[in-house]
Amino acid sequence: MKPFRIRNIEINPPLILSPMAGVTDYTFRRLIKRRGGVGLVVSEFISVEGLTRQNPKSKRQMRFDEEERPFAVQIFGGRPERMAMGAEMAEEVGADIVDVNCGCPAPKVVKGGGGSALLRDLPRLETILTAIKKSITIPLTLKMRVGYSESTINAVEVAKMAESVGVEHIQVHGRTREQGYKGMADWNLIGAVKDAVSVPVSGNGDITTIDYGMRRWAEANVDGILIGRGAMQNPWIFRQFDDVLNGRQPYQPDVAEKKAVLLEFFEMLQEEMPEIVALGKMKQLAGQFTKGLVGGAQFRQTLYHSHSAGEILDNITVYFETLAERQTFGDGLTEADKDLEILSCDALSNDPNACSDDETSCNVASTN
Ligand SMILES: Cc1cc2nc3c(=O)[nH]c(=O)nc-3n(C[C@H](O)[C@H](O)[C@H](O)COP(=O)(O)O)c2cc1C
Repeated sequence: MKPFRIRNIEINPPLILSPMAGVTDYTFRRLIKRRGGVGLVVSEFISVEGLTRQNPKSKRQMRFDEEERPFAVQIFGGRPERMAMGAEMAEEVGADIVDVNCGCPAPKVVKGGGGSALLRDLPRLETILTAIKKSITIPLTLKMRVGYSESTINAVEVAKMAESVGVEHIQVHGRTREQGYKGMADWNLIGAVKDAVSVPVSGNGDITTIDYGMRRWAEANVDGILIGRGAMQNPWIFRQFDDVLNGRQPYQPDVAEKKAVLLEFFEMLQEEMPEIVALGKMKQLAGQFTKGLVGGAQFRQTLYHSHSAGEILDNITVYFETLAERQTFGDGLTEADKDLEILSCDALSNDPNACSDDETSCNVASTN
């Protein structure tokens, strides 16, 4: 478990913030990166149909800051020429890596031949990867699920093909498209991909604690790991991992720091977007972030019912001050670590705004 390279780019530590549409935008990525321990960040997945038709939202999604480097832009689509053009645009804006999405299960994305649809059309995937390779000089990487369905698991075949056309890093989420988020990611399949190719392979799925992550990582013998939902619950998870990798005690933020990170996020959001949008994003992160905190459920209720920046800030202050003084809040209960239902793939993949290949205006909020 040591740093690895994607061509000349060092991924150090070998820990990656997994792309999440509607979450890993410019603001969230910087928030996480600043906590430390992140070796690579990736954009939300970006529609090449939107990008190549100059859709302002798609273009905005490629924006990044120097502090984020190394930075990968993830693109999705089903048409080789559009994918090549989209990849070229990512290189032009200065991204370090282009990543191709081969996992999105959203019906609209699949209908357009992109995302996980590519797992059942390898000739098309090969044409896409080859076209992209011709159009960029920066490294090309792939993020995939292990197959389209239980009966058509083909992660090893996909990975070998990808390697043969010049893909330089393969990231595997250990579930099938059909599975959505049900069950657990199969890290044995991830390990099988690692054994089958010589480019670096990173594993992904269900890592929310250091113990579980270390175990899976060691078993699958992968080069790196990606953490998605776990970073929303615990923005310090990468730093804690890095601590353990280096023989240190994992960093434990205190209540004051937890409060500070929410405030920092809200401030960054307000700089970037209208207040109403910032409020929505704040509620989304705070909803995940307070899982497992004493009185978290009741605190979330106060946030959901906040209608202005002032109200949100007041509620955050009251919550954390009460916690600091009395070590408790509201009913004093800490919920069990329930699934992140509001973010489940099924819920978001029904989003009517998810991109399809024939749309010019994409407002993507679907998941992979
Ligand atoms: C809200 C949400 C949005 C996602 N969007 C993307 C995406 O844009 N691209 C992608 O490759 N995967 C996406 N994913 C999948 C994650 O990157 C990751 O593969 C998956 O959540 C499993 O990892 P985890 O258990 O660490 O969250 C998304 C997941 C969620 C929950």
